[in-house]
Amino acid sequence: MRKNIVAGNWKMNKNLQEGVAFAKDLETALAGKTLKCEVVIGTPFVHLASVASATKLAVAAQNCADKASGAYTGEVSAAMVASTGAKYVILGHSERRTYYGETDAILKEKVLLALANGLSPIFCIGETKDEREKNAHFDVVKRQTVEALFNLSSEDFSKIVIAYEPVWAIGTGLTATSEQAQEMHAFIRQTIADKFGKEVADNTSILYGGSANGGNAKELFACPDIDGGLIGGASLDVEKFIPVIEGF
Ligand code: 13P
Repeated sequence: MRKNIVAGNWKMNKNLQEGVAFAKDLETALAGKTLKCEVVIGTPFVHLASVASATKLAVAAQNCADKASGAYTGEVSAAMVASTGAKYVILGHSERRTYYGETDAILKEKVLLALANGLSPIFCIGETKDEREKNAHFDVVKRQTVEALFNLSSEDFSKIVIAYEPVWAIGTGLTATSEQAQEMHAFIRQTIADKFGKEVADNTSILYGGSANGGNAKELFACPDIDGGLIGGASLDVEKFIPVIEGF
């Protein structure tokens, strides 16, 4: 059955010492609690190895290169990410698509390299405000899913976690309503079912991201097709992150 996941995405926040201290504090705060989800922390590259060895919590990178190795100054490969002990890699975040020009074609390569190196991609999809206002949100999300992921075998697709993050909800305080999120998650699951079959679709974890926090997590996570969250701002403080984790 599909897994519930609450994943923090620190984005470009916290230095190394702050990151390691956070991971230890979070692990201590969670000790003794009965968790109904897997907790993941998504750190900058620099922190990965230290955080992965400081905690038993699952660790995610926020990106990896679209090339396997070689003369690509400044890039970090999927193999390097895997060698730190990270289990996941966030790919296709809207900030990467918007600020760093990541296209569906580039993301397709990144997904293949992540999988080849034993990483599970947390693959982000989502429409802009303009696209929603034009009623193009379903088409956009479908295109992002099909173009980067539908070349995979069912076996490989089953290692993917989807994160639906409407761009208009990220960092804005404008969380999607649980009805809007559930509607899109159900659509994504149906799109997966049409390609890979109902069993694969039912086993795919689909997370919601975009101004999710301790105040709205419970309602979001209660929706039948919402299997957790990808959390930005509310993942930066242990006291704010724990109520999200306890949304399950
Ligand atoms: P916020 O939770 O800060 O809106 O960020 C969401 C996000 O982009 C997680 O990847």
